[in-house]
Amino acid sequence: MKTPIILLKERFLQALVAAFGQELAATDPLLVPASNPKFGDYQSNVAMSLAKPLKQKPRDIAQKIVDHLNVSDICQTPEIAGPGFINLMIKPSYLEAQLSSIVGFARLGVDRVENPQKIVVDFSSPNIAKEMHVGHLRSTIIGDCIARILEFRGHEVIRLNHVGDWGTQFGMLITYLREAYPEALTKADALDIGDLVAFYKKAKQRFDEDEAFCEISRQAVVQLQAGDPETIQAWKLLCDQSRREFQVIYDLLDIKVTERGESFYNPFLPAVVADLDNLGLLQEDQGAQCVFLEGFMNKEGNPQPLIVQKSNGGYNYATTDLAALRYRIKEDGAKRIIYVTDLGQSTHFAQVFQVATRAGWIPDDVQVVHVPFGLVQGEDGKKLKTRAGETVRLRDLLDEAIARAKADLETRLQVEGRSETPEFIDRVAQVVGLSAVKYADLSQNRTSSYIFSYDKMLALQGNTAPYMLYAYVRVQGISRKGDIDFGHLGVGEQIILKEETEIALAKHILLLSEAIAAVETELLPNRLCQYLFELSQKFNQFYDRCPVLQAEEPFHTSRLLLCDFTARILKLGLNLLGIEVLDRM
Ligand code: ARG
Repeated sequence: MKTPIILLKERFLQALVAAFGQELAATDPLLVPASNPKFGDYQSNVAMSLAKPLKQKPRDIAQKIVDHLNVSDICQTPEIAGPGFINLMIKPSYLEAQLSSIVGFARLGVDRVENPQKIVVDFSSPNIAKEMHVGHLRSTIIGDCIARILEFRGHEVIRLNHVGDWGTQFGMLITYLREAYPEALTKADALDIGDLVAFYKKAKQRFDEDEAFCEISRQAVVQLQAGDPETIQAWKLLCDQSRREFQVIYDLLDIKVTERGESFYNPFLPAVVADLDNLGLLQEDQGAQCVFLEGFMNKEGNPQPLIVQKSNGGYNYATTDLAALRYRIKEDGAKRIIYVTDLGQSTHFAQVFQVATRAGWIPDDVQVVHVPFGLVQGEDGKKLKTRAGETVRLRDLLDEAIARAKADLETRLQVEGRSETPEFIDRVAQVVGLSAVKYADLSQNRTSSYIFSYDKMLALQGNTAPYMLYAYVRVQGISRKGDIDFGHLGVGEQIILKEETEIALAKHILLLSEAIAAVETELLPNRLCQYLFELSQKFNQFYDRCPVLQAEEPFHTSRLLLCDFTARILKLGLNLLGIEVLDRM
């Protein structure tokens, strides 16, 4: 369904051409939502911008545009204001017709894209044998949301987990594994070394203090890279162990992602270096193979190198990303590649993209984007840490959110004098706790840092998950109570808008596809959160002012339909954020 703004832009172009000729066929009508409802719904500033090129007064231009503007099916008569603004006010009859036309449809007016693309979303991507930290949590939540929205729009999304499963640290981990768990490699069943973080720390400690251990570790790296079966087996054991821990988090958060870690690209690394060499882009610098970058200077003002092969012959993070980029374009056929990581990796991606571009590896029809996000901070404004000053374990963080949601719920049940089964309480606590964490993250503009606060994210008031979930329960309760058979309502004049608040709600309902399109292009999930939050507010204002169940026909049915629209959009929108709704809470 075309949203009003898209339709109006088309009509503006027609008017511009009719009034001033074909030369204006590519003009941007400068149409934006009005800053103040007093001025209507949309406002165009195009008359001002045309004053110079047309050598006419803006008000005269505005008048000529309006004379040729054919929008009577969508808007009231356009008004010219101030120096030459054109103000437009949507007609209720247009809203009624639009809403009636999407009543029976699950997609609620959000079209599938005409040209679906193959899109890679590279997200989550924790490192083996290290704890998944809050940075990975952000990547996981934001990446999943972006993937869900692109999928809903009809794109073919390849969700990739670029786990850090390769590198020199495995020498030390494997050596320590052999030392501390000599039986691990001969036993058939999966190894359980418990806390992998503690394991990592102990291995590191041995590595730092024992020269002999260090030497064996270095040999282990060589053996691993050479594909020695026993070493590979040890490496696999470590990866499996980590994988199981990651999976617990993914299951809890309902995340689907395909693992394709750094090790996957190993066979393709030599060709990256060789091809850069053939293209004449490679230079040797202190024994390392590098590409000197444009626009990245060191302190002395000389171009900085991007190392693709170290002096010892080893490859690194950047080489792997170059190989991955080529693979995703050539083998996966991706037309858009989206990397979701913290802001700290912006330079890395800018450099990798530059080298790939200069090498001619990114065709014109392929878009590569880094989607950066800020830090998660503690209440003190510093990087989130436990009381003891350690990195917070994700598992603990999610469990804590669920436990607090449960405590809140139990208090509320007591106050309301309700009694519910333990199963109900656990289920509600789990959904509320997890969605609070997700929503708190997604509702921020991802590029800023935010303060992690259980109290704020679990609050029933404000732009929070519990507020949104509660709005859904409430609205759905009303439409359920109305017992209306939506399946039998045909396309027609069922929706009748009279009161200001119901007109405002109707307008907002029709903006759903715009909100989703914004996330699709700008990759900012907070746009959708904001839309849903405003929807709940507009719904509440409508429900305060307009009787629904007590209303006479035809308002009774029409208003129930508005309730139902609201509930369905909340459900759809929250699902696109990765949040389950509840029927009761
Ligand atoms: N494993 C990396 C980290 O923990 C993130 C990987 C992101 N993806 C990529 N293609 N580099 O920081």
